[in-house]
Amino acid sequence: MKQLAYYRAVADEYEDHTIDVPGQDELLSAIDSFRPGGDVLELACGTGIWTERLLRSATTVTAIDGAPEMLARARSRVGPAASVRFLEADLFSWKADRRYDAVFFGFWISHVPEDKFTSFWTIVAEALMPGGHVFFFDDNYRPQAELVEGSRSPIVQRKLNDGTPFRVVKVAYEPADLEQRLRDLQWNVRVTGTSGPFYWGTGVRG
Ligand SMILES: C[S@@+](CC[C@H](N)C(=O)[O-])C[C@H]1O[C@@H](n2cnc3c(N)ncnc32)[C@H](O)[C@@H]1O
Repeated sequence: MKQLAYYRAVADEYEDHTIDVPGQDELLSAIDSFRPGGDVLELACGTGIWTERLLRSATTVTAIDGAPEMLARARSRVGPAASVRFLEADLFSWKADRRYDAVFFGFWISHVPEDKFTSFWTIVAEALMPGGHVFFFDDNYRPQAELVEGSRSPIVQRKLNDGTPFRVVKVAYEPADLEQRLRDLQWNVRVTGTSGPFYWGTGVRG
């Protein structure tokens, strides 16, 4: 998928593309309050920034990403630790071979195409122990310059520092709508917005 090509290419300059918009403090404090114990599954771990945090409370973290370049950065950030396992896999075809106490993903749900939304949440459900919590967060920030296919299209254009363009999926969820969609899939998840484009969701399979 082209989206993965973008993340492979952007891995070494990922931090250069951080967005500077309101709501970050609220988001960081929500992330900080999620301190899962036990065995935790992190999807789309990227450069491992959250993997490091999860390891503060978790017994083990299994962190998955489709981009080997991202995983290389994550491995070097986290260092050798018996409690972490990194896996390269395409999250649109991967399936868990065991269940976890919690599932976590940051800045990922907005990149799941509409036609994969339901199957993605089935993957999450099948990876979670009964009663296990999911925690995710993302943003719905889509600047005008990225809307090369129009404001109704879920596809946006992202550019590397050298100007190379890529198309990626960026679905702009409103927290209440996302919460309802998850309720329709039997998830009891509260999705909370911030004073900016960020939101987070946490809850259990209902
Ligand atoms: C926006 S980044 C988020 C990374 C990290 N969670 C963070 O918050 O910084 C999205 C991540 O999804 C990964 N990704 C994109 N498509 C994927 C796919 N089909 N399967 C697995 N990972 C994928 C990318 O490599 C990238 O690391």
